[in-house]
Amino acid sequence: MEKPEPSLFDQAISVLETNNHGTYTVPASGMYPHQWLWDSCFIAIGQRHYDVDRAKQELLSLTRGQWANGMMPNMILSKMGSRVRHGNVWRSWLNPNAPEGVVTSGITQPPMLAEAVIRIGQKLNKTERHNWYRIMYPVLIAYHQWLYDDRDPHSEGLVLQIHPWETGLDNTPPWMQELIEHQLPLWIRTVNKLRLEPLINILRSDTKFVHPSQRLSTLEALALFSVQRRLRRKNYDTTRILTHSLFAIEDATFNAIFIRANDLLIEIAKELRKKIPENLMDNINKTKDSYEQLWDQYSNQYYSREFVTHRLIKVPSIATLMPLYAGSISNERASRLVKLIEDPHQFGTNYPIPTVPLSSEWFQAHRYWQGPTWINTNWLIIDGLRRYGFYDQAEALKETTLDLVEKHGMYEYFSPIDGSPAGIANFSWTAALTIDLLNS
Ligand code: GLC
Repeated sequence: MEKPEPSLFDQAISVLETNNHGTYTVPASGMYPHQWLWDSCFIAIGQRHYDVDRAKQELLSLTRGQWANGMMPNMILSKMGSRVRHGNVWRSWLNPNAPEGVVTSGITQPPMLAEAVIRIGQKLNKTERHNWYRIMYPVLIAYHQWLYDDRDPHSEGLVLQIHPWETGLDNTPPWMQELIEHQLPLWIRTVNKLRLEPLINILRSDTKFVHPSQRLSTLEALALFSVQRRLRRKNYDTTRILTHSLFAIEDATFNAIFIRANDLLIEIAKELRKKIPENLMDNINKTKDSYEQLWDQYSNQYYSREFVTHRLIKVPSIATLMPLYAGSISNERASRLVKLIEDPHQFGTNYPIPTVPLSSEWFQAHRYWQGPTWINTNWLIIDGLRRYGFYDQAEALKETTLDLVEKHGMYEYFSPIDGSPAGIANFSWTAALTIDLLNS
């Protein structure tokens, strides 16, 4: 008898098993050999459906990377072969706050941790949940406190990011435009002018796994690398970094996720009958109002903002939809965003939601964060649509999202036009969030 095709649920579990390194899960074996912050949060959100202890372990593994000042690094470097090379790239030990015994990056990623903690909590009985929250609460408090203390130096209520990697949307157009227009060092401009990219390409490892047309361009990769070098030269000390550079952005995606994370942190505190420290609460209270300063009344969209000048970076991207997930905007603005999602010239493609709207000159169906549909951004938007009562739209998006993985497998991203897969196969958060969508 022919063996039946494994169910989508089983296929997803087997991807997570393949990428399982015991106490944490890598995003994809080979190409991404370390533990990443928001990846592990999404991964735990899937794991909780079939092994809640493993899901807890995924997040506990993240805590080993937390810095003494509360920072949660976007990467904890693995002890495998590439550790030496990557560890030396980051040199987190240059900063006195970095933890002993593990090498991490020196920057963070969108604060999805509170969401993952609470989602695991939903699978536990009351006593287990309290025990779980008691472990994670101090981690979250320190992290959110650090975000305000370190990343909101003018007490504006919005936190700034110092590297595109911190947004999780590495080469998203608003950041790339800022970077390429204002921040490219001479040597990178020269490489560009002399058309030396093919030479540099030989040194790239990502393009050995995925076709270069689906990754960031070499110019972009060099630009990101050069920002990282600059941050390292300042030992990842934000004050020193801001003194020497104007490249800092209050990112619309990051801050939307932060708003939601703050609400969830408050929920956790309530359940534990703990009082959030007053200074943190004062900051939290500012953020929702401040976020509205990112609204552009001319185009009726949200944009990220340059930290120093407060200039909105009016380059369209999926960030404009993220306030749905934040849950803090008015119903009227939420409806406007839903119109953008439904507009066939913007985000309303056959396999939505593209990370860059179709009308943008940046749009490329297979190019990393410059067009493709990703499962994590869809997941965030589905959650937001439901919270605003757009159940039909949420259901439709869930169906097309599951359709993508059902037809093509657990790829990193997909063409929003015809659904064709791109990036690396067997990608962990695609698998984990498939499991979550199947159960929601
Ligand atoms: C890329 C993505 C980022 C992700 C990481 C690991 O850098 O842009 O969001 O966390 O890969 O999957």
